[in-house]
Amino acid sequence: MSQHQTSDTDEASEAFDSPTVINEAVKGPDDAAESQATLSAEIADIESQYKQNLAAGQKPEAQPRLDYRPYRSSILRHPTKDPRHTDPETIELFSPAFGHRDIGTLESDLTIQADGEPIGERIRVTGRVLDGDGRPVRNQLVEIWQANSAGRYIHKRDQHPAPIDPNFTGVGRTLTGPNGEYSFTTIKPGPYPWKNHHNAWRPAHIHFSLFGSEFTQRMITQMYFPGDPLFALDPIYQSITDQKARDRLVATYDHNITEHEFLMGYNWDIVLTGANRTWMEEEDDD
Ligand SMILES: [Fe+2]
Repeated sequence: MSQHQTSDTDEASEAFDSPTVINEAVKGPDDAAESQATLSAEIADIESQYKQNLAAGQKPEAQPRLDYRPYRSSILRHPTKDPRHTDPETIELFSPAFGHRDIGTLESDLTIQADGEPIGERIRVTGRVLDGDGRPVRNQLVEIWQANSAGRYIHKRDQHPAPIDPNFTGVGRTLTGPNGEYSFTTIKPGPYPWKNHHNAWRPAHIHFSLFGSEFTQRMITQMYFPGDPLFALDPIYQSITDQKARDRLVATYDHNITEHEFLMGYNWDIVLTGANRTWMEEEDDD
């Protein structure tokens, strides 16, 4: 199981029961909760040190730091020993297998899964899955999951006071085409609170999974939207210390994808290998 599946569950479990307005009025702010200022100072210190390292000739870091302290809950659960490669179980090499018949073409449109239209800003996210040499990766299973426009997941642990949209599940999947292309029509997700620290909010994002040709090849990452004011404050986004690597997780607004009187368009290519690869969440060793 990928680490992200764990972290996302935790993310959702951390999603919200932070101090309410009523609690703050009665008891004052929660003294036990660390402030954004505390976290932002830690983020700034690490950023400063990283830039010094770069100036001193250290190679850019393409991957997030597993022991990135501002992301509090990751400290106790990230691997502390070097991962070891193990041979996959036979079952992992042969199943599950996906074919065109397993995936309906309508599954890439998250706005038509219910009887009514979901609320929010309709968008299309499209791009290509490429290898390190720019070659298309065809027939690749691409899955996404995301919060609704109010920032709420359908998850029993996500109980923060934002509405669930009965017409939006937030999950979709598709296969890449002959040129590695994929396309999802969905609703722009809202930012949501989580319990890393007091008043912690995640930038709006869509989770992406690429399945590979075998179960053991699965890779998971997150796509963000350009210009999000929460980037600087978010320990998960900031755990990728290199700005260029961060930038590769941010989609580009593309007016050619935008449709007249219908939706806004974003482009986001996913590069699996090489120097410009899209950052992927590390997998557990088990
Ligand atoms: Fe999320």
